[in-house]
Amino acid sequence: MAHFQYFLYAQIIEGIDAETLKKELEQQSLDEMNHAKILANRIIQLGGTPNTKLTETSTCGFSPPLEDRADLAHVIELVLEGERCAIEKYNRLAKKYHMKDLVTHEIFEDLLTDEVSDEEDWENFLPGLKKGSVSISTDF
Ligand SMILES: [Fe+2]
Repeated sequence: MAHFQYFLYAQIIEGIDAETLKKELEQQSLDEMNHAKILANRIIQLGGTPNTKLTETSTCGFSPPLEDRADLAHVIELVLEGERCAIEKYNRLAKKYHMKDLVTHEIFEDLLTDEVSDEEDWENFLPGLKKGSVSISTDF
């Protein structure tokens, strides 16, 4: 779900800092899709079938696009909610498979590491946006 959410945000946002954020949203959308691919492959390895009902079963949900397409700080806050939900979920799943299924455990540890890094990236965008710009310095 995060994959599609970030992709959609990247298409609709506008404003002075939108181009910078679009690139980050598109890159992280691809990263999230890669997570889904890793998990789907592991489910298949274990003899299961990847989930086909994402909107019904997603634990982190989907925040629809905003009416104010230039409210980039709000976009980042919604993205951070998703990242923090994923961190909690992967942390719980890494613990669940610890000492039970080492391969699955390590997959969730890797995903957790990625999500913590994502959270940090998005947190670094927020102060600049709340001041009005992520790219223009007032220090001359
Ligand atoms: Fe993420």
